[in-house]
Amino acid sequence: MTERPRPYLDPPQRPPFALPLPPAGKRMISLAINENAYGASPRAVEAAIARLSAPHRYPDPSSSELRLAIGTTFDLDPDRIICGNGSEELLDVIGRLFARSGDRIIMSQSGFFQFALVASRLGAELVRAPERDLVTDADALTALATPEAKLVYLAIPNNPTGVAMPISEVQRLHAALPGHVVLVLDLAYGEFLAPGDLAALMDLAAKSDNVIATRTFSKAYGLAALRVGWALAPRWMMPGLNLLRGVGNINAPAQSAATAALADRDFLNRVVEGTAKERDFLGGHLTRLGLRHVQGLGNFLLTEFPGEDSKRAQDFIDFAMREAGIWLRPVGEPGFPNHSRIGLGSRAENELLVATLFSFLHRRA
Ligand SMILES: Cc1ncc(COP(=O)(O)O)c(C=O)c1O
Repeated sequence: MTERPRPYLDPPQRPPFALPLPPAGKRMISLAINENAYGASPRAVEAAIARLSAPHRYPDPSSSELRLAIGTTFDLDPDRIICGNGSEELLDVIGRLFARSGDRIIMSQSGFFQFALVASRLGAELVRAPERDLVTDADALTALATPEAKLVYLAIPNNPTGVAMPISEVQRLHAALPGHVVLVLDLAYGEFLAPGDLAALMDLAAKSDNVIATRTFSKAYGLAALRVGWALAPRWMMPGLNLLRGVGNINAPAQSAATAALADRDFLNRVVEGTAKERDFLGGHLTRLGLRHVQGLGNFLLTEFPGEDSKRAQDFIDFAMREAGIWLRPVGEPGFPNHSRIGLGSRAENELLVATLFSFLHRRA
């Protein structure tokens, strides 16, 4: 047999992830991947459509107009802003700038799964810091910051838990971490935090030489399909980060849509207010139905399905798709064997979900 090329990675063989088909005659209601139930700003959609009239023109490789708009909207230096193909590209770019095989990447026990993906792509060692009642523990993270540690990734609020580490604890963590470690604050759901808390986290990134804040247009702005994220990073990191991103990483309709979205504050406020209301609505019903859940701060609620075996969450997921065309997924992360992270839909969708939960829990065996 002839010799075969040898890749550096030997990844687990997973089936490809695809959107499921709804039952015949039913529309699918997606509550599985933390999307925006309110759609997107019509101004953003119009801007994307308008830019589609010139598809033969390349996008601006520097996303200059978008970075300027971000700088103006949030009072930040556009030269310290980098845009990414979703914030996931930026999480990856940051990993590639600082870590390689033999280095250590630190995350919180139930942190966002993409942090672990970054580590495995690089062959870096991933370590998870224990939490207290799902809250990220500053001391446990600091204890893992060996000389080999290069990055700490934290999502605030976190996915899949929705729990936000208190701001004073983030500041304490930053003060305690050795200077050679980069602290990455993933603020994908930052718009759902109290405005003062979001401002304090952005301020930490603005004033520190080892903190990066990542943001996204996928969640509160509802532009998930267009893949636009951004990060505020120290000035000295910008050449490295820019080298490692794709040259034409943000397509032109996406740049136009994101720029227009920033100007529509009313839409954003409606999403943030509506999401908080739906969180209370669904959380109240989950409590009445006797289902333990985390009343977090994202646009989803981590929910536990008690049962003798660990199949109960999957049973409900199958039932919800079959009976109501509602798409949900199991969490599938260590520590959450019988859980689903239920995304918040519109009021009508959430009512249907509650009715479906009721039928599931009260059906005869
Ligand atoms: C915590 C967190 N960070 C980052 C992302 C990546 O989002 P995107 O690549 O769409 O910006 C997600 C998406 O679900 C997320 O939940």
